[in-house]
Amino acid sequence: MKKLTIFILLLILFFPLRENYRILGLFPFPSRSHVVMFQALMKGLAEKGHEVDVLSHFPQEKPPPRYNDISVRGTVPINNFSIKFIQEHLGNAYQSTEHLLTHLTESICTEVLNSSYVRELKNTKKKYDLIIIEIYATDCFFAFAYKFKIPVIGITSSVTVSWGNRIGNPDNPSYIPNYIMPFSGRMNFIERMRNTLAFLTTKRLETATHTISDIIAREQFGPDLPRISVLAYNVSLMLINSHFSINYARPAVSNFIEVGSLHIKPRNLLPKHLEEVLNIGSQYEGVICLSMGSIVRSETFSRDKLQAFFHVFKGMSYQIIWKANKEQMPKDLDIPPNIHFEQWLPQKDVLCHPNVKLFIAHGGLLGLQEAVYCGVPLLGIPQFSDQELNLKMSETLNLGMIIKYEDLTEKRITEALMLLLFDNKYKENVKRLSKILKDQPNPPMDTAIYWIEYVIRHKGSFQLRALGVDLPWYQHHSLDVIITLLVLFTTIIGSTCCTYSAMGKIMSVCRAKRKARQDIIRGC
Ligand SMILES: *[C@@H]1O[C@H](CO)[C@@H](O)[C@H](O)[C@H]1NC(C)=O
Ligand SMILES: *[C@@H]1O[C@H](CO)[C@@H](O)[C@H](O)[C@H]1NC(C)=O
Ligand SMILES: *[C@@H]1O[C@H](CO)[C@@H](O)[C@H](O)[C@H]1NC(C)=O
Repeated sequence: MKKLTIFILLLILFFPLRENYRILGLFPFPSRSHVVMFQALMKGLAEKGHEVDVLSHFPQEKPPPRYNDISVRGTVPINNFSIKFIQEHLGNAYQSTEHLLTHLTESICTEVLNSSYVRELKNTKKKYDLIIIEIYATDCFFAFAYKFKIPVIGITSSVTVSWGNRIGNPDNPSYIPNYIMPFSGRMNFIERMRNTLAFLTTKRLETATHTISDIIAREQFGPDLPRISVLAYNVSLMLINSHFSINYARPAVSNFIEVGSLHIKPRNLLPKHLEEVLNIGSQYEGVICLSMGSIVRSETFSRDKLQAFFHVFKGMSYQIIWKANKEQMPKDLDIPPNIHFEQWLPQKDVLCHPNVKLFIAHGGLLGLQEAVYCGVPLLGIPQFSDQELNLKMSETLNLGMIIKYEDLTEKRITEALMLLLFDNKYKENVKRLSKILKDQPNPPMDTAIYWIEYVIRHKGSFQLRALGVDLPWYQHHSLDVIITLLVLFTTIIGSTCCTYSAMGKIMSVCRAKRKARQDIIRGC
């Protein structure tokens, strides 16, 4: 027995178990849906044995082992908009990105970075091995990487925002639609023009957020703090929530890692009451799920839009599950009995229920991934930010259709529902894509965890860094070379032409002189 114990002790000494790290997640952006992905990742890391501290506005009710919440709830309002606010302030993708970025960068940096929770974290005695930061209006938090002197990984819950390419990733606007542009990959001249302008504008927005961040972060971390742009560009790796099956295929540098649909867990049990709603028996032909995500409050849809939906649903033999607060709907509207309201849905598990035939959604990327994963066609009603881009892609791929909010009428909704429910094209396509999305060498969660551990093992893994990051933009795009070549080329062409015309002139003068001389001789 004693020998065995000694043997095991020796074994552990010489073959240590996996190393466990301390990882800090900084997710101060106040949108629940973003955090869905980040929490899934942090839970995945905790399950692997790492100890994670997660700063966000959305602490867990029951955090799993080794998962520790740092709640900053109450420091800034949660993004939670009425349709009126969206139409007034977030009209198009550019407007919403500008609003969310500049407005929220300022409030996140002043209110969250300057909160007592964050001050406490700043002075912690804990030694972390790595920081993971969401890269949306939160760049002032890169100051922590400098303060703790540890590597940092950027993460985004959307397809890459322009500044997600700050690791030197190719971002050619001729075929890669910008995050704020509702284009598919194939663009005509005008679209490419607009896409290029969007590319330049988002670069400007990024710079603007860094100017604000610098001021506030230095106040908090001291005047010696390097510029936020320097720190933010020192990121080791980017984890991006896209995948070529439902987003466009694109070139990527070695530290641009696509982990699309990472938040999806294969099987979870549904709450009992939802299971009952979904088990429709022979009463209905199927279930339609409607959700506008965590930010848009669909109960604030205008009266006529709600009425249109209610009228359409009333005439259908389908069970509807609608994510909304029923109490806040106009009281005098006649809500048909086949609509079941829920304030928050375990959305993927609902969508993957075999009775669900259609998903009506705002086009948030996580919901789109869940619909594809579960093989359910999509009717998209884009609201702001990247939603139109995501939905445009799903329309191009024949996964579903788009109706703009302004165009929601009984007639349009009925037509769309009939097509999506009864034209097999959509169902077949979405099932085909579902297979492609699931056909990956490793599950996206494992891919993400592998690269996170890799960055820690190799102390920031600077071998992954593309050298282009450190070049100024005109060198990065070889503009200096192109201009020099153009100048040289025109100089050569120009001087050759000059030489020829000068030679031509000299020759003609010579010829004239010779002729004159001959004339004189002839005259004699
Ligand atoms: C959203 O805002 C409404 C009103 O502004 C509030 O009643 C509700 O509690 C908020 N919901 C969340 C999840 O913050
Ligand atoms: C940060 O908070 C302190 C006290 O809580 C306050 O005096 C200071 O003005 C705040 N700084 C900013 C930039 O808001
Ligand atoms: C950049 O990151 C590396 C490794 O994470 C670190 O050693 C270096 O000091 C960082 N540079 C700056 C300016 O923070």
